Amino acid sequence: MALAGKRVLLIVSGGIAAYKVLELIRRLRERGASVRAVLTKGGAQFVTPLSLSALSEDKVYTDLFSLTDESEMGHIQLSRDADLVVVAPATADILARMAAGMADDLATTVLLATDKPVLAAPAMNVRMWEHPATQDNLDRLRRRGVRMVGPNAGPMACNEYGFGRMAEPEEILAAISRHFGRPAGPLTGRRALVTSGPTHEPIDPVRYIANHSSGKQGHAIAAALAALGAETVLVTGPTDEADPLDVHTVAVTTAVEMMEACRAALPVDIAVCAAAVADWRVASRADEKIKKGDGGTPTLTLVENPDILASLSAGPGRPALVVGFAAETEQVVAHARAKRERKGCDWILANDVSPETGTFGGDANRVHLIRADGHEAWPEMSKAEVGQRLASAIARSFQGAGDGAA
Ligand code: C5P
Repeated sequence: MALAGKRVLLIVSGGIAAYKVLELIRRLRERGASVRAVLTKGGAQFVTPLSLSALSEDKVYTDLFSLTDESEMGHIQLSRDADLVVVAPATADILARMAAGMADDLATTVLLATDKPVLAAPAMNVRMWEHPATQDNLDRLRRRGVRMVGPNAGPMACNEYGFGRMAEPEEILAAISRHFGRPAGPLTGRRALVTSGPTHEPIDPVRYIANHSSGKQGHAIAAALAALGAETVLVTGPTDEADPLDVHTVAVTTAVEMMEACRAALPVDIAVCAAAVADWRVASRADEKIKKGDGGTPTLTLVENPDILASLSAGPGRPALVVGFAAETEQVVAHARAKRERKGCDWILANDVSPETGTFGGDANRVHLIRADGHEAWPEMSKAEVGQRLASAIARSFQGAGDGAA
């Protein structure tokens, strides 16, 4: 678990986004962190102490002058007993009080007393965010080492649009994970590159050639490699998947862009090509939308896209271990063996994508791992489990063979 044993003190101040911290607490705890919450008076208007304590499985601290709190744990100790203090949502008001060094409630007292790093997720109306007073306060806090995550631009509860929406729980989680650094594991010190998702090949400004790849499998592999300690770059085509934790994600659209981003990520020890790269692109994309009736039915001339897997396998700077995918609809193992030879990669994960399997876009996958010296049929499992099992096999191959992994 990526955040095992980490102690987060979460200060919840009064903004409409306070409900999102419930999800944040759940995700932090899933990753092994413990969460202790301090709720301001304003925060209690938006989220109840009961829901915070149910999710954190701890007492929620609200009152500076509560004798029980002081006898069980003074505010000084509360502020020291954490590895990281997170203020989410951080309203304009609490940021101002932090900047001024005030200590007029438990939250600000803890923030003034703490010697631990502080991460704030601002959330407020766009005009309040843009106000020079808020911007000055943010500058002062940043100079003092307080780190900010967000806010994002978007529609706001007050019917305005602009900066001020609190970062999403997963973005705050990613910032917290970055703070604590990558977990150590058997792949610590190794660099990995993973491709994922489809590519979109434009025909004109509004149309493109694509496929049904969801990116679920590639994203799961990147997450699993990072969880074992690998410094991981994920190059992904357009997908709805969230960026995995502890992974540097590079978003691209076309195969040519994917190839360039992969080249830029080299050198790596491990490359896993899980993307469903379009085999062809349109030779010359139209600058304007192609109109019906402009000289009859258009003819698209296609040219072949670069083969990223084959090119990474051929070098220069070939990764020690290159893994490809084979999506087959029949004779899965035989075709995948031939593909391993043809592409020059070390391993192939072959899966049956005939329509009745529901693999494309689904959560489950049944794969065969094909190496030079034989093949393993894995039972049906979730794409997350396939990612973990592949990452473990990769880690074992490095442990067993030093750098000559394959
Ligand atoms: O040739 P085919 O598309 O079946 O091969 C699939 C494998 O090759 C996958 O690992 C895929 O990511 C990779 N590939 C690639 N670049 C291409 C086509 C496929 O990296 N242009």
